[in-house]
Amino acid sequence: MELLKERILKDGKSFDGGILKVDSFINHQMDPVLMKAIASEFVQRFSDLNINKIITIEASGIAPAIMVGLELNLPVVFVKKAKPKTMAGFYASQVYSFTKDRTYDVCVSSQFLNENDNVIFIDDFLANGNAALGVENLIKQSGANLLGMGFIIEKSFQEGRDRLLNENIRVESLIRLKSLGDNSIIFEEQ
Ligand code: G4P
Ligand code: NA
Ligand code: NA
Repeated sequence: MELLKERILKDGKSFDGGILKVDSFINHQMDPVLMKAIASEFVQRFSDLNINKIITIEASGIAPAIMVGLELNLPVVFVKKAKPKTMAGFYASQVYSFTKDRTYDVCVSSQFLNENDNVIFIDDFLANGNAALGVENLIKQSGANLLGMGFIIEKSFQEGRDRLLNENIRVESLIRLKSLGDNSIIFEEQ
C-alpha cells in the first residue's frame, strides 16, 4: 500500500532492536483519513469472503477494525486484555508479550462470538504473532470460523507470519518490513 509506505517513511521512526514507532498516525495520535484508506484496502483484500463480524484486540487494533466494520456495515468485537470478574460466559486464554516480557490474559464474551460467526481479525502490528495466536485460540473455543487475519504492518523479520501460516491462517499485511535498524526502514519487495 503505497500511501502507507510513504507515510511510514515520512513520519515513522525506527530504532535499533527492530522497533518502529508510528505514534503520530497509528498508535497514539491517529489519522482517520489514513485509517479509512487502510480499511478500504483490507475490505478489498478480503472481498472474496463472506464475513459477518470483525474481531480485533485492544487497544491499537480497534481503530482500523472499526473502520473496516463501518465500511462493511458489520459489528466489531474487541478482545479484552483483562481477566473477567467471573469466567462464566467468557472464553479466556493467555498471551506472552516479548516486548513487555510478561504474560497477560485475553478474553471475549461467548455472547459476542459463537459457531455462527465468520470472522476476520484485524490488528496494527504482526510481530511474533502471540497476540494473534491468542485470539485464534479464543475463536477456536467459541466455534466461530476464522477466515483471515489482516495487519497494517508486518515485521517480516520476526516469526509471526510463519506461525500463522502454520496454523493455515490466511494473512494479509498491508506493509511488510524486511528490516528495521537505527533510522533505517527496509520494505519487502511486494
Ligand atoms: P506479538 O503479539 O506479535 O507476539 O507481539 P509482541 O509481543 O512482540 O508485541 C507486543 C505489543 O507491541 C503489541 O501491542 C504489538 O502490536 C506491539 N508491537 C510489536 N512490535 C512493534 C513495533 O515495532 N512498533 C510498535 N509501535 N508496536 C509494536 P500491544 O502492547 O499488545 O497492544 P496495544 O495496546 O498497543 O494495541
Ligand atoms: Na497491537
Ligand atoms: Na501496539
